[in-house]
Amino acid sequence: MLITRHAEAVAVLADPRYVPPPVRQDGAQGTLAWLRARVSRFSTGETHAGRRRELVELLDQVDPGALRAEAETMTRRRGGDWRGVPTAVLGAALGVEDTRAVPAAAAGYLSGEESPRADAAVAELLERTGLPTITLLLQAHAATEGLVENALERARPGDDIDALLHETLRGNPPLKATRRLDQLTGDEVTIDLVAVNRDGDVFAEPERFDPARGRTPHLTFGHGVRPCPAPAHALALAAGVLEGLLT
Ligand code: HEM
Repeated sequence: MLITRHAEAVAVLADPRYVPPPVRQDGAQGTLAWLRARVSRFSTGETHAGRRRELVELLDQVDPGALRAEAETMTRRRGGDWRGVPTAVLGAALGVEDTRAVPAAAAGYLSGEESPRADAAVAELLERTGLPTITLLLQAHAATEGLVENALERARPGDDIDALLHETLRGNPPLKATRRLDQLTGDEVTIDLVAVNRDGDVFAEPERFDPARGRTPHLTFGHGVRPCPAPAHALALAAGVLEGLLT
């Protein structure tokens, strides 16, 4: 089933009967499959709650304001070559100085596409830090870079960067869809985040890109049982990079 209406998406995301489609549990130790079987993102019930709590505790120790300032400084220092900046800044804040293995591991993290390269990257990260920190880096990487990329496509001179980011999240989300399994019926449900963020019942003139809208109830950070625990961190990293590029 494909969900394109905002109210239906909210109902599914808030209902514990819908869970992430299960991932394989028999991956060899230290591989991408092994990692996916151990993270909050793909677990359910009490296991999910416990793993998520651990991540929230880690995130509580990271100040979004400091991430923003450091992302701006690093972007300027690199002469505007911003790729890798959000992940490097988040990594440093979490005590990981070398985050070069993150993109290769992150590439298969959500999709589940396994490869020797992704497995090697996971093994390298495990030498540097623990599973909760790796989870945060892998969750953060592609989505935050995608947000910066999409915002840069829309940026106009003099834009308010926070307003630009909020409207980019609504109108052009870096993650286009999320999936659930209905535990009662076995049906797979796909939530089309682009469509629900343009539901005319919720957003006036939904096709118009308008940073002046201010905050909107977009679903780009999820909702309900397992929303993104780090919207403030994501926005801070993206805003810092944009400040380094545009101001
Ligand atoms: C623009 C950037 C980001 C977007 C759009 C985004 C979006 C999302 C969404 C939609 C989910 C829920 C998935 C679902 O319900 O199926 C999620 C989960 C998650 N995100 Fe983000 N995210 C972003 C950045 C970040 C950052 C920077 C971090 C870490 C610092 C992070 C950490 C996580 C974690 C750990 C989860 C799993 C939560 C759980 O299992 O309960 N995200 N994110």
